[in-house]
Amino acid sequence: MTVLDARTVPHVDTPRIARTRHYLMCAPSYFEVVYAINPWMDVTNPVDVGLARQQWEALRDTYLGLGHRVDLIEPLPGQPDMVFAANGGLVIGGRAYGARFRFPERAAEGGAYATWLTDHGYRVTEPSRTNEGEGDFLALGSMILAGTGFRTSLEAHIEAAEALDRPVVSLELVDPRFYHLDVAIAVLDDGNGAGPADIAYFPGAFSRHSQRTLRDLFPDAIRCSEDDARALGLNAVSDGQHVVLPAAATSLAASLRDRGYTPVPVELGEFMKSGGSVKCCTMEMHR
Ligand code: ARG
Repeated sequence: MTVLDARTVPHVDTPRIARTRHYLMCAPSYFEVVYAINPWMDVTNPVDVGLARQQWEALRDTYLGLGHRVDLIEPLPGQPDMVFAANGGLVIGGRAYGARFRFPERAAEGGAYATWLTDHGYRVTEPSRTNEGEGDFLALGSMILAGTGFRTSLEAHIEAAEALDRPVVSLELVDPRFYHLDVAIAVLDDGNGAGPADIAYFPGAFSRHSQRTLRDLFPDAIRCSEDDARALGLNAVSDGQHVVLPAAATSLAASLRDRGYTPVPVELGEFMKSGGSVKCCTMEMHR
């Protein structure tokens, strides 16, 4: 009799079970690149507005096709980055911690998202510290992984922990191409369903100490290659089984398949011109 190898390899035989999700998105009606606040943005590289709209609609239709709920917030004229709904706050179980943007160009988005959340019944804590919502906060199991270094301040990590009554693990980002946590880590399984929490990440985006933290907390995590991270492959959205991710991240998709996930590739090239992709366009209302 042979020993079943898969059983000795963590995660491989974990059943992947989709849980229906609730998302908030913002149509790219005013999306363009007219300022540069991250290395991806080049004001001389124009956005194809029609193509951006098609790509965004295909992403929304992908979520709807997977059975998820997608709410929409009205875009504001003059706020080209408002399409990146992940940055509008962090919502967990009826409570929300509002966003306070690092750059004045995006400042008005904070209030718009907070108003929408309040109007829809969420108890919003108004932030006094700089933070960019789910761009730098990832809900995982009973805790929150929090990024700092480019946008969100360390003080905001503490404020979020208090606002949402959850422990926070602070992680330091060191590579300007990966200026938000949600382009350096993908949550594959949030640990609130059948399986253990599971992530993929690009170690090079983090300080040595934070790499050590991630190794300790997630010894079995998928290590994403630099090429896939540069394709914004980690800017993915998972329902526990289906992982919606940029189509160019092909090796990451293969690793996901090996672990029993179903990769769902999408094209969001126009949004990469602004440094964003799947997850950036999606705020999740976590249970
Ligand atoms: N152009 C936007 C910015 O630099 C992109 C935001 C991407 N959002 C995200 N959640 N990573 O702020």
